[in-house]
Amino acid sequence: MSLVEVSELHRVFRTAGSAADVTAVNRVSFTIEAGEAVGLVGESGSGKSTIARILMGLERADAGSVMIDGEDRLRRVRNRSERMRRARSVQMVFQDPNGTLDRHLTVGETLRRALAAHRLVDSRSAARARVAELLDRVRLTERHGRAKPHELSGGQRQRIAIARALALEPRLVVLDEAVSALDVSVQAQVLDLLAEIQRESGVGYLFVSHDLAVVQQLCQRSLVLFRGAVVEQGPTERVLTAPEHAYTRLLVASTPGPGWDPERVVEARMSFTQRMTVVGEEP
Ligand SMILES: Nc1ncnc2c1ncn2[C@@H]1O[C@H](COP(=O)(O)OP(=O)(O)OP(=O)(O)O)[C@@H](O)[C@H]1O
Ligand SMILES: [Mg+2]
Repeated sequence: MSLVEVSELHRVFRTAGSAADVTAVNRVSFTIEAGEAVGLVGESGSGKSTIARILMGLERADAGSVMIDGEDRLRRVRNRSERMRRARSVQMVFQDPNGTLDRHLTVGETLRRALAAHRLVDSRSAARARVAELLDRVRLTERHGRAKPHELSGGQRQRIAIARALALEPRLVVLDEAVSALDVSVQAQVLDLLAEIQRESGVGYLFVSHDLAVVQQLCQRSLVLFRGAVVEQGPTERVLTAPEHAYTRLLVASTPGPGWDPERVVEARMSFTQRMTVVGEEP
């Protein structure tokens, strides 16, 4: 059994007063093994966040199934203890950590409250020790723990959001553009940290990003999403060096990097548009 088993997941948004429905997620299937980092890439509007939100129970699905750790995640929770248990097994890190951090509390207090809410510590001293361990885990110190969110840098705040997610010892962390707002060098540090945590704790990641270079640094496997559908998936290295789908080739060609060739972008875009306008061809 895989840690995550998503099958034929489907979600259509119907906007009142608008004739056009948006198929945000189109029969998507994938798995994540325990301790594996899987990238979910695709351009803006391709349905990445919708998939992430459905996995977290923040958005409903029209059809399909989501099993995490053997539990049907699309079934409604029956009571508080079930909700708490779900929260412990899957945690999310967003692009903007301010959503998860209370600006009135020191970040150490935020961590302490998360531990207490889930009864993961039974004394003040145990809480203090665990908070110190979590700060250390994301390479911050107790000095940072005494700071309020606004007193930290963007990278430090994102490390706290990661520590907050790890506090509950989840089996899966869903990261939605979690490093996208950080500058490149800070991005690299946070990605290193995520890789180290993955190796040491065996946590799995669903790592949502529009940025292939970032996905390449962290994810063993990747899924490419186009208009809600998975058009390609495989080992990240293979997907990026030998993309099979025209859309993946376009994404790869559009990513600036060593050997980047604007002419290839133009070629890839032409071949992609040609393919998309062939009548009846599915993405
Ligand atoms: N609550 C909603 N109501 C109506 N349409 C929605 C809703 N949420 C998402 N959509 C639509 O579903 C599609 C997929 O959106 P989603 O946010 O999943 O894309 P994304 O890949 O995360 O994009 P980005 O990279 O910009 O974050 C878009 O067309 C979006 O407009
Ligand atoms: Mg998104």
